Amino acid sequence: MERSALPRLDVDADEIRRRLLPHCRLKKGETWRDSVNGHVVACGDAADSESIANLFSTKRATLAIQDPPYNLVMFEKQSVDEYTRWCRQWVDNTYSVLSDDSSLYVWLGADQNDDFQPLPQFMLMMAGTPFEARSFISVRNQRGYGTQKNWMAVRQELLYYTKGNPAFEVQYTDIPKILRGYYKEVNGAVTENLERGKSPNIRPGNIWVDIQQVFYRMEENVNGCYGQKALKAIERIVEASSKKGDLVADFFAHSGTTLLACERTGRKCITLDIDPIFTEITIRRLEHFRATGKTGWQAGNPFQKELAGKHRKAKTVGI
Ligand SMILES: C[S@@+](CC[C@H](N)C(=O)[O-])C[C@H]1O[C@@H](n2cnc3c(N)ncnc32)[C@H](O)[C@@H]1O
Repeated sequence: MERSALPRLDVDADEIRRRLLPHCRLKKGETWRDSVNGHVVACGDAADSESIANLFSTKRATLAIQDPPYNLVMFEKQSVDEYTRWCRQWVDNTYSVLSDDSSLYVWLGADQNDDFQPLPQFMLMMAGTPFEARSFISVRNQRGYGTQKNWMAVRQELLYYTKGNPAFEVQYTDIPKILRGYYKEVNGAVTENLERGKSPNIRPGNIWVDIQQVFYRMEENVNGCYGQKALKAIERIVEASSKKGDLVADFFAHSGTTLLACERTGRKCITLDIDPIFTEITIRRLEHFRATGKTGWQAGNPFQKELAGKHRKAKTVGI
């Protein structure tokens, strides 16, 4: 594949955005319906209750996976109170499209340079909603950032909430159980922990150490997407908290990871993004997967064809 990266499409990307927009199928308020497996991609605002109600109509999801822009990467940084009020709007919208027994997962950062906002404010806000807090998961990145004077920052935070009493399917990692010495008598025989249990591998628990965050050498990488989550993490959530044929909601599609996870695991997905470029990338990622079996473009990009032949010009805008 021809290699050409896209710059981050949220900042300093006016020229490239102007060139990509005519190639986007959706404008704000429009919807793309997948004729193969029934997924839906919409261009809209997660906080707009009327659009969300129209989009879902009477359909109810078993699972929602929400990955909002964090306050520190919002296009215009808001006060944490404004940000939390905005979160409450899409949380309420999420509640209204979830079935009686369902799960909500939220990815949210804590800015260690700014009193860890907005995570604590978000958690307190959630305490005032009908959702029940279930788990606070940390995903350990393989690579981190930091200085010699602080602990390297390697964590991504993932909150798990429930509505009603949803099913939960225990998940396992590929990491073998290696610790011995936890003995227990079973039917008169002394057994050790490695002999008991349903799997020879450990469970991820609420600290996930086996997930590589996405970077440009990985097949699933989607250039131009600054907030892409690892497919392995999203598939783990989907398999733990939904069943084949269930509907999954994601109001912040971006690179379309939740949609792709649903396609690969036999779920249906309704997803939206406020930015037409990310809705187009989401649709193209699904089409690209169906055509090639590949989960992303690695060092290439979703608009390769449209940008081909414009390389000389393209260089001036950083692709
Ligand atoms: C952190 S990214 C989501 C990443 C996604 N989970 C993935 O793996 O690719 C956040 C996305 O939310 C979108 N967004 C921002 N404000 C929104 C809003 N009010 N409604 C819907 N989408 C919004 C942004 O355009 C961006 O694509």
